[in-house]
Amino acid sequence: KRVVAFISGGGSNMLALAKACAAADFPAEIVAVFSDKAEAGGLAKAEALGIATRTFLRRDFPSKEAHEAAILDALDALSPDIVCLAGYMRLLSGTFIQRHEGRILNIHPSLLPLFPGLHTHQRAIDAGMRIAGCTVHFVTEGMDEGPAIVQAAVPVLPADTADTLAARVLTVEHRSYPLALRLVAEGNVRMEGGKAVTAGDL
Ligand code: GRF
Repeated sequence: KRVVAFISGGGSNMLALAKACAAADFPAEIVAVFSDKAEAGGLAKAEALGIATRTFLRRDFPSKEAHEAAILDALDALSPDIVCLAGYMRLLSGTFIQRHEGRILNIHPSLLPLFPGLHTHQRAIDAGMRIAGCTVHFVTEGMDEGPAIVQAAVPVLPADTADTLAARVLTVEHRSYPLALRLVAEGNVRMEGGKAVTAGDL
């Protein structure tokens, strides 16, 4: 399966996906990495692996719609089977999601439906949580609301700060996203009727 990954920053999740895809038996390959930030550290990581990269700067376009249209055109030219949002910090419009409904995955650093949105680790600590984690989910029009594919949990320790918790969650993110991509690429999980349906359910 052909995958295009979207990043805005360091791209550690994109790197984890790229490493998983490098295994001979992995059912997906990353054919390109798209970024909305020229300084995204993940661009150099992708280029070091020989993965094509494209940057789409919002300021180069007169509107959000024009920015997305350029991305959608570039995406169509690559005919991806799956789009993996990996630290991509821009909301996709309904037009974009409808165009690729069921084919867009995202990783969010909380156990959804708890803590959608930003600053998830500080919010978990402030709420007194003793468990935190990540969610890989299908992207739907509501932010961080799509059906979950894989989740992983880590303990919240008494001395944790947002940074120490983020680092612990990242370790399980880097295992969860490749697992979720494998499940979707192999057709073992897909989105149907707004739910994540496994092959066994059919
Ligand atoms: C990660 O916590 C991820 O869950 C969130 O962005 C953070 C950085 O991701 N979406 P990456 O290192 O850029 O993949």
